Amino acid sequence: MNLVEFESVTKRYQLGEVQVTALNSVDFTVQKGDFVAITGPSGSGKTTMLNLIGCLDSATSGEIRVAGQAVSQLSDRQLDTLRSRTYGIIFQNFNLVPVLSALENVMLPLYLHRLSKAEMRRRAQASLAAVNLSRFAGFRPDQLSGGQRQRVAVARALVTEPKLILADEPTASLDTASALSLVELMKQLNREQGVTFVFSTHDQRLLQHVKRVVELRDGHLSDSAAEAPLTAAAELTTDTSEVA
Ligand SMILES: Nc1ncnc2c1ncn2[C@@H]1O[C@H](COP(=O)(O)OP(=O)(O)OP(=O)(O)O)[C@@H](O)[C@H]1O
Ligand SMILES: [Mg+2]
Repeated sequence: MNLVEFESVTKRYQLGEVQVTALNSVDFTVQKGDFVAITGPSGSGKTTMLNLIGCLDSATSGEIRVAGQAVSQLSDRQLDTLRSRTYGIIFQNFNLVPVLSALENVMLPLYLHRLSKAEMRRRAQASLAAVNLSRFAGFRPDQLSGGQRQRVAVARALVTEPKLILADEPTASLDTASALSLVELMKQLNREQGVTFVFSTHDQRLLQHVKRVVELRDGHLSDSAAEAPLTAAAELTTDTSEVA
């Protein structure tokens, strides 16, 4: 089953008299184990598309299905549950809480999941280990480099074992070396743990490292997926459906 399906999705914004078509009849699917970059110039609809994938906004027309469910049919409450069970989100500017340690930042999303404090710590430590930051668990964000902060943000997105991690320009605040190493880390998590990623980027240098690149131009999507068959990594995905 597709994790996410867009069927002829259009998103329009009304700004006073002016109507902007941010996405125009977009067909798109994400499968378990995918590693997808959304690219395109400023204003082409990347953020709009990520917001729709993450059910943070709704389509003007067309249908979006997540794990087979048409999201337009769900109540706000059902959408909240779907969001917390499905997605991990990495923000462009990390959005770490400055007064909390790396470990405490990574634990935050688990407060919604009714776990014991000990289990929360165990999971957060495992997540920090997955991004090679165990040594820095007690450090606050201002004691970490930009690249390390973004890795804490990746650990925080991973900690709920989401089906899909969404990231809007996750490398935008990083220098080239840190940006490349972040993409390498994401690829490693994709390959070794079957974590599915969809992220946007302007950065042409990153795209050659990505399995599947889709391009937006004025709200129209072109998808290179047909030419880029999935590798064995997609077969290695672990089932995370039991995570509450
Ligand atoms: N809340 C909104 N209200 C009105 N128009 C919007 C809104 N959000 C986005 N738009 C318009 O939709 C279009 C797509 O915007 P979007 O933010 O998705 O582009 P983007 O590809 O993410 O750009 P960037 O690379 O600059 O982040 C733009 O023309 C933008 O002005
Ligand atoms: Mg954007």
